[in-house]
Amino acid sequence: MLELIGRYRIQEKIGEGAMADVYRAHDPSINRSLAIKVLKGEFRQNPEYSTRFLREAKAAGALSHRNIVTIYDVGEVDGYPYIVMELLEGEPLNEVMAGKGKLAADQVMSIGQQLADALRYAHRQGVVHRDIKPSNVMFDARDGSIKLLDFGIARIKEADSFLETDSVKTQIGQVLGTPRYMSPEQAMGQEIDGRSDLFSVGVILYELITGKKAFAGVSAATLALQITQQDPEPIAKLAPESPRGLQFIINKLLAKKAERRFADGGQLSAALRQEQSVYGAVMAEAASRQRYLPLQVRLTLALGVITAVVLAGSIATVLARQDKALERMAIASGSGVTSFVANNVALQAADNATLPPEKQDWLPVSAFVNVASKDPNVEQITVVDSQGVVRGSSDRAKLGKPYAAPADEKVVKTTQGLTVTDTKSAKGESFRFVQPVTYNGRTVGKVDVSLSKAELQSASSLSRALLSMLGIVILGVILVATYVLTRLLAEPIKRLKSAFTEAGRGNLDFRISHNRRDEFGELFEGFNRFVGHVQERMDTVEAVALDRTIHPAGSDTDAPTPRLEDSVIGYKPQTASPFAMPAAASGGPPASDVDAPAEPATAARRPRAKAKAKTKTAAAPVETAPPAPPPSPFDAENDRTVIRPSGTRDD
Ligand SMILES: Nc1ncnc2c1ncn2[C@@H]1O[C@H](COP(=O)(O)OP(=O)(O)O)[C@@H](O)[C@H]1O
Ligand SMILES: [Mg+2]
Repeated sequence: MLELIGRYRIQEKIGEGAMADVYRAHDPSINRSLAIKVLKGEFRQNPEYSTRFLREAKAAGALSHRNIVTIYDVGEVDGYPYIVMELLEGEPLNEVMAGKGKLAADQVMSIGQQLADALRYAHRQGVVHRDIKPSNVMFDARDGSIKLLDFGIARIKEADSFLETDSVKTQIGQVLGTPRYMSPEQAMGQEIDGRSDLFSVGVILYELITGKKAFAGVSAATLALQITQQDPEPIAKLAPESPRGLQFIINKLLAKKAERRFADGGQLSAALRQEQSVYGAVMAEAASRQRYLPLQVRLTLALGVITAVVLAGSIATVLARQDKALERMAIASGSGVTSFVANNVALQAADNATLPPEKQDWLPVSAFVNVASKDPNVEQITVVDSQGVVRGSSDRAKLGKPYAAPADEKVVKTTQGLTVTDTKSAKGESFRFVQPVTYNGRTVGKVDVSLSKAELQSASSLSRALLSMLGIVILGVILVATYVLTRLLAEPIKRLKSAFTEAGRGNLDFRISHNRRDEFGELFEGFNRFVGHVQERMDTVEAVALDRTIHPAGSDTDAPTPRLEDSVIGYKPQTASPFAMPAAASGGPPASDVDAPAEPATAARRPRAKAKAKTKTAAAPVETAPPAPPPSPFDAENDRTVIRPSGTRDD
């Protein structure tokens, strides 16, 4: 292997093309790594090849662009013609494609954009690349940037006569191997210009977005036939998910007739830039759509929360009041019971109070207490004499013992000597009523009665359960009703949204069919009028563009060419709407190019009957009429929404 070429120290082989080997090398004089391309041995003998090889340096050496490899040096040592270039990272696109299937649309657009930029620049410098193919495009995965390589058969306009001898042409044809990425005019050996490079870009982009070769023939002859005669399989079929604008741009690049393609890299770049921004907006919208809850759900949730709060508040208030009322009733009846006991024991207690202890008779009191405490609501009854000794009790063990007054119990109520407290026993919660026993205004003892709260509590929990159930039923009914009602609102909004999406994609044949007599009906009509209007304008644009194609400016008549802008009232080229023309971005296209950028807007539209009728008389434009877009999901989704065939349009 070579070790030294000139002052460059060869390190390893990093690539190989049809004509040359590419090595990584080191330049000791400025201590940098670089790539050096050396003509293969079998071609070195032929001076024509050497000339052509070195011409690459001449063509590319004058170019300085971030998407074109930089040439440092060129020379010939001991019969080795070489070109020294910047050393590129990454791998050529053919290897990138071999590893993956399809590439993502935004990546394809970015690659297309960079290629277009490089070509716009090269074409402006008068250089046509003529060999745009994946192995001549280096892709750097770190930042997605690309660099165009190998201006080996590039042609510099002014150098034509000097370099393009017939023999070189044929021989180059032989060594080039596969003409898979050649343009039709190139395959037919006709004169070519920058638009031939654009065709090749189209073939690359097609392959990137579909994962399939645009022209798959194996022999050069089949390929030449396919390239010149056949349209590749529709992108819409192979990559239906790809943006329609991009599909249209690629189809336009692949037009067999150069005049149906973009006029130059600048126009392609503008069209792609616009498509990128539209696509970016669509993607951003899709992303933001995922981030919000649908109106229907939000309204239902909001109403659900409000209803639940109001219901819970009302139920809690009702229950609290009811509990209070029940408590009052329980206390009232408990006071009655206590008074009844006190009255019954009063006479006996008064009698006993006048007698010495051994003469006192508490038996009737005790018997009464026994009978009274049989009531299941009565927890305990205690009767205490004036000395504080228990004389009657439901708990016999306490008889004759001193009475222990309740301590630490929460006082619920006190009136005229009666004290009501909350108390707890093994049987549960209860109210305790303590009341003095009086006779003729004299206090002769005390009664202590505890009445269970069990019934009170069960009544309260029953109403709690009933009210809660009622609350849940009401909440459920309101949620369902809101959901159903908001659905009625959401449905027409959805239709309108889909219609706008469809129009945004360029499908202007779309109308919303309805018979609503409400605000939504008016909105639908507004939409229909709007697209109808846009469509009319697009028709004018198409007609003018078509006219321009049939009668190119200055071809046969002296009549001034109608200006596109004049024919469309209120047309604003700068607008960024999807209906705008990319050419506007590139700053005023030359008159003859107007049709090109105008069409991405109509990209997704079906070929129109009107346009078709005209193209019958002009054979050229027919070939590249964009393929019909797949039927919109909108139609399938809603049978009342129709795409009217353009032939039946009443405008
Ligand atoms: N500057 C470079 N840096 C890194 N690799 C390169 C460079 N130039 C070319 N290569 C590699 O060498 C291959 C052949 O180079 P190319 O210039 O296309 O040669 P040919 O004219 O023979 O087709 C490329 O596909 C690429 O892989
Ligand atoms: Mg090459």
